[in-house]
Amino acid sequence: MADRDAWASRLGFILAAIGSAVGLGNIWRFPYQTAEFGGAAFLVVYVLAVLVIGIPAILAEFVIGRRAEMSAIGAFEKLGRKEWTVIGAIGVFGGFWTLSYYSVVGGWVIRYLTGSFTGAYFGAPGEYFGAVSAGMDAIAFHALFMLLTVGIVAFGIEGGIEKATKVMVPAIVLLMVGLAFFAYTLPGSGPGYEFFLSPDFGVLADNLATVIPAAVGQALFSLSLGFSVMITYASYISDDKSLPVDGLSIAVVNSLIGILAGLVVFPLLASQTGEYGGAGPGAIFVSVPTALARLPLGELFGVVFFGIVLIAALSSSISLLEVVVSYLVDNHGVSRKPTTVGLGSVIFVLGLPSAWKTAWLGWFDGLAVNLILPLAVLLVVFFVGWVMADDAVDELRRGTSDLGTLGTVWLWALRTVVLLAVFGTLALSVFQFTGAPV
Ligand code: PFF
Repeated sequence: MADRDAWASRLGFILAAIGSAVGLGNIWRFPYQTAEFGGAAFLVVYVLAVLVIGIPAILAEFVIGRRAEMSAIGAFEKLGRKEWTVIGAIGVFGGFWTLSYYSVVGGWVIRYLTGSFTGAYFGAPGEYFGAVSAGMDAIAFHALFMLLTVGIVAFGIEGGIEKATKVMVPAIVLLMVGLAFFAYTLPGSGPGYEFFLSPDFGVLADNLATVIPAAVGQALFSLSLGFSVMITYASYISDDKSLPVDGLSIAVVNSLIGILAGLVVFPLLASQTGEYGGAGPGAIFVSVPTALARLPLGELFGVVFFGIVLIAALSSSISLLEVVVSYLVDNHGVSRKPTTVGLGSVIFVLGLPSAWKTAWLGWFDGLAVNLILPLAVLLVVFFVGWVMADDAVDELRRGTSDLGTLGTVWLWALRTVVLLAVFGTLALSVFQFTGAPV
């Protein structure tokens, strides 16, 4: 068999995984979900979900990928568990589904990037968002974002994306810190911090059934779990790496960027409107532009900010498309370019309802994040905990000499707490799922 690709360096793997993890989920989705589900209460459940479910689950995906050295669908067969291939299939389908509306939001970002050059949205950010977020405009920019994603995946992701992610992650952090400082200086920003950072446990207790699925879904989505991305990426790591350290670093950086986005958005919203919950999917597209309009060189800041968000979105969208493409290329021997273009076209069409009406986008997103994703993660956790079992611990230990009893603790966590938590989340989500908008 020909030598398989491998990451050139450990940092290359970590950055590519961070590239997938850090995206619209952190900068766009996290703030508006937090706003919708009660602010700090949501943050508390989100952080707990990252620690209790996210980190053990990302390690579970790593272990499958590295052990099998195969992408998602082939991995289960390679591990001698062909009957579990359905896990990979659900993941691949979930990625396909998610990319359809992710690309619509990516299109908004391109629109705002081009608008930044002239300050097009400075005058009336709320109205501007209303005008460009749905309808023909949104469809055109959705097409453009899909085209970019297809272009990168069709022509290979080495070099370009690896280099881009190396600059991107530090740049996002620096810019977000800068914007967060700016937000801090605005009069009236104080209540924003309170809303975001000081949890009202009474409110939390009353709304647990809605906050839990939303926050857990967000944590898993943000870590790019469930859709087989981390299985695929880990299939390219060689043995001498510490999976626990990698998983922890990715989770910490990823959550930090989400929290930074919150420290930008909530103080800004507080200083402008004092209204958080109603901001919806437009939160970041209204609050940040309003701040930029007041800044000297606002256009320049806008170009840099939305440029970076675009890179973050692309380094996630390509990971979603790559999983589907690599499955078809690896397992069915089709050629990469036409497959990528064909898939891109189908995903574009699937995204049309989301581009046409924001309510559809919410529905697609809800189905992906609250149902398909927890279902896929539930199956991964069960598979690694109960089916792979000792092999999984053995794989986790490879390259990590001083793991001690941590491997066993991880296994038992997967088998019990993590499994139950994901199951509970899924059950709550199913219970609450509402039908499609008409
Ligand atoms: N983690 C990405 C984000 O936060 O934007 C979204 C994502 C990418 C989710 C890839 C799942 C995935 F497999």
